[in-house]
Amino acid sequence: MASRYCRVVSSVRAVAPAKINLSLRVRALRPDGYHEITTVFHAVSLTDEVTVSAAAPGAGRTVTTTGERAASVPGGDDNIAAKAAVALARHAGLAVPDVAIDIAKSIPVAAGMAGGSADAAAALVGLKRLWNLDIADADLVGIAAQLGSDVPFSLMGGTARGIGRGEMLTPVLSAGDLHWVVALSDTELSTPAVYAEWDRLLAAGLVEAAGDAADADAPLLAALRQGDPRAVAAQLVNDLEPAAVALRPHLRAVIDAGVELGALAGLVSGSGPTCVFLAEGREAAIALAAEMAGTGLVRGVRRAVGPAPGARVVV
Ligand code: C5P
Repeated sequence: MASRYCRVVSSVRAVAPAKINLSLRVRALRPDGYHEITTVFHAVSLTDEVTVSAAAPGAGRTVTTTGERAASVPGGDDNIAAKAAVALARHAGLAVPDVAIDIAKSIPVAAGMAGGSADAAAALVGLKRLWNLDIADADLVGIAAQLGSDVPFSLMGGTARGIGRGEMLTPVLSAGDLHWVVALSDTELSTPAVYAEWDRLLAAGLVEAAGDAADADAPLLAALRQGDPRAVAAQLVNDLEPAAVALRPHLRAVIDAGVELGALAGLVSGSGPTCVFLAEGREAAIALAAEMAGTGLVRGVRRAVGPAPGARVVV
């Protein structure tokens, strides 16, 4: 009979990906303060690494962050990874946990790429292993959804359609890789501020709410199945882009520059201010990244490939 062997560990490292919204259609403001959206999420190869370690009794939750814009990431219980630890422990019927969380950031902060959501998702899978919890995937997704609208997708990865406030997911079939150039901004944007700006533009008649047609993304889904980057590029859409550009007008020049330099398409990522550019393939992305870096319009440039896997334990 096979023996059940369970290795006790004191530290677990996990990674989780950044996301791009290939399509983000904003429909209506709900009574709970969230907007009803339909979106197609796409995880890319920019990842944050989260190490969770047992801490001395009474130490509480300590969060240290290094890397990309670490200074603007909150510490302690204000950090979404610490909130993930508390929510997971509560779900498992454990005492409020003493845990040290170290975050190595590569995903830009407050930038529309779900960096905080990635940290929460990585903390969930890391702590599940650290505490050796027997918890169903559906329960983990439920905890993730309480932490933030994008956290379930950070767990899932790949490419997926999201409805509701973005937390109700269905995987999407896609063929081949998409090669992206990510243009980092020297400013940050808060997601609630961008949604509030969209509400203002809607009231002023400057944007329209998306209809509830279930098939609006059918051409995008077909292009993803074909694995044809040109067809995907023609279908990229972000309803939050006018709001992000209204708050950060220089983003228009960034997008125009990327397209002039040969990107198949460029758009604001999620609520911004990061802009992302789809390239024909790997070589085109390398060339575009170099040219974008030389424009002086952006803080920095990264290359990323999608789809990428969701949050997972690496050590
Ligand atoms: O879910 P999350 O905590 O990431 O959302 C942060 C804020 O962004 C919400 O409080 C809300 O103001 C806004 N939001 C929204 N509609 C969504 C997702 C987020 O209005 N679908």
